[in-house]
Amino acid sequence: MNQYNWEEDYKSNDILWGLKPNEVLTRYVKLLPDNGKVLDIGIGEGRNALFFAKLGFEVEGIDLSQTAVQRCKELSNKLDVQINASVNDILSFDISSEKYDLIILSNVLNFFTPDAISKIINKVNAGLRKNGHVYISAFNIDEASIKNIKKKYEEIDENTYFNHNKNMNLHYFTETEFKGLVSEYEIISFSNSYSLDLSHGKPHYHSSFEILSRK
Ligand SMILES: C[S@@+](CC[C@H](N)C(=O)[O-])C[C@H]1O[C@@H](n2cnc3c(N)ncnc32)[C@H](O)[C@@H]1O
Repeated sequence: MNQYNWEEDYKSNDILWGLKPNEVLTRYVKLLPDNGKVLDIGIGEGRNALFFAKLGFEVEGIDLSQTAVQRCKELSNKLDVQINASVNDILSFDISSEKYDLIILSNVLNFFTPDAISKIINKVNAGLRKNGHVYISAFNIDEASIKNIKKKYEEIDENTYFNHNKNMNLHYFTETEFKGLVSEYEIISFSNSYSLDLSHGKPHYHSSFEILSRK
């Protein structure tokens, strides 16, 4: 399986994705049971996981990047909160069945092929308890960077590109496809946004979908 190595991105930035949790997660935290179980897939430096850990949730997270996991552990130690963060690949990681009240996929699914995305979603589905929630954010087909991506990447599937030098897959979602990830679920919040991102690197625009839904 070709996978991009995120180490250099993390090593060349003190905090790559900022420390602010996704606003939708903070808005609907009351829907989750007290001390519920949260799994953050592609936890990064833990901006979402730290938010839930501070509130007393039992938080686990996995990431392919050792540096990201290390940084997440340092931040949780500093804040004196518990996060069970480990280096793992979601494609081989076993998600325990019907365990979680919330599974987070924040800006992660874009980096997989449609086939891998559907395998991840099946695992997530099995890992959620009845009435469990899944949060997904991902870039959509209106993302401005697609123009450049098309020049540098090979199109390997519909709206899916692969960069041979970086070993990176990029997949952009249509609205039907994105909502289809959780088609059996009750939608709590869905948004399609076009906005300036000031959280990392030079200011740039993103076009993204975001969904919180309940099993
Ligand atoms: C764009 S970052 C988002 C980080 C975090 N979720 C956030 O929103 O701040 C994508 C993250 O997914 C992780 N990742 C990519 N492929 C992965 C895989 N196969 N298994 C686990 N994590 C992966 C990367 O290492 C990176 O930390």
